[in-house]
Amino acid sequence: MNILFIGDVVGSPGRDMVSAYLPKLKEAYHPQLTILNGENAAAGKGITEKIYKQFLELGVQVVTMGNHTWDKKDIFDFIDDAEHMIRPANFPEDTPGTGLTFVKINGKEVAVINLQGRTFLPPLDDPFRKVDELIEQAQKRTSMIFLDFHAEVTSEKQAMGWYVDGRVSAVVGTHTHTQTADERILPKGTAYITDVGMTGPYDGILGVEKDAVLKRFLTQLPVRFEIDKTGRNQLNGVLVTINEQTGKAQQVKRIMINDDHPFFG
Ligand SMILES: [Fe+2]
Ligand SMILES: [Fe+2]
Repeated sequence: MNILFIGDVVGSPGRDMVSAYLPKLKEAYHPQLTILNGENAAAGKGITEKIYKQFLELGVQVVTMGNHTWDKKDIFDFIDDAEHMIRPANFPEDTPGTGLTFVKINGKEVAVINLQGRTFLPPLDDPFRKVDELIEQAQKRTSMIFLDFHAEVTSEKQAMGWYVDGRVSAVVGTHTHTQTADERILPKGTAYITDVGMTGPYDGILGVEKDAVLKRFLTQLPVRFEIDKTGRNQLNGVLVTINEQTGKAQQVKRIMINDDHPFFG
């Protein structure tokens, strides 16, 4: 089972990169499952129903979210019906949506989980206790379990990787918008990367137009952040191959597409 995961898609530059490169990535790597983090898909903040549906039309089967889940109020109108979208499972109880979904592929199920870290992010429920609960739930149906852990710090993400090693097929970090080069398969069979990176502007700062961010650092004045639509774009992702019987990862491959790392697939 090949699973393609695309890191935080930021605004229209990110969506354009997904429509331009997803067909090429599918041709090169034949993923049976494509997952994408969409928390920044609508102008950097949240997601709309229209954008969510565009992703599904492009062949994305699951959209994961993060700390920007509620940024567009549109979300409250469709999240409960959005079977292919998950938000962090450790949000407070009674929040709309769900943090675990199952996708059926050729008669086999893959569980996809979304969780959020708590270091330098809002104080949610404990993602470590929560993941135990979700793994138990998922294992009743499948051994193939994929986790998007949306967190700020490298230590919390590494801790999660080790905590679930051998119990889930893959842990991919999201949120920092900067890809880390530490992809590996942990000793008990869990594919791991601290952060997949982002998809969208390549010449901005984490997707935001850089002059505004610089002004903020230089003056500490309040500045309006806009998505950088003037520069070049990038796509960051990861491809994980899983043994369908055991759920163990066999391969993890980092994908980075930008002008400095062109795609030849
Ligand atoms: Fe993000
Ligand atoms: Fe985030």
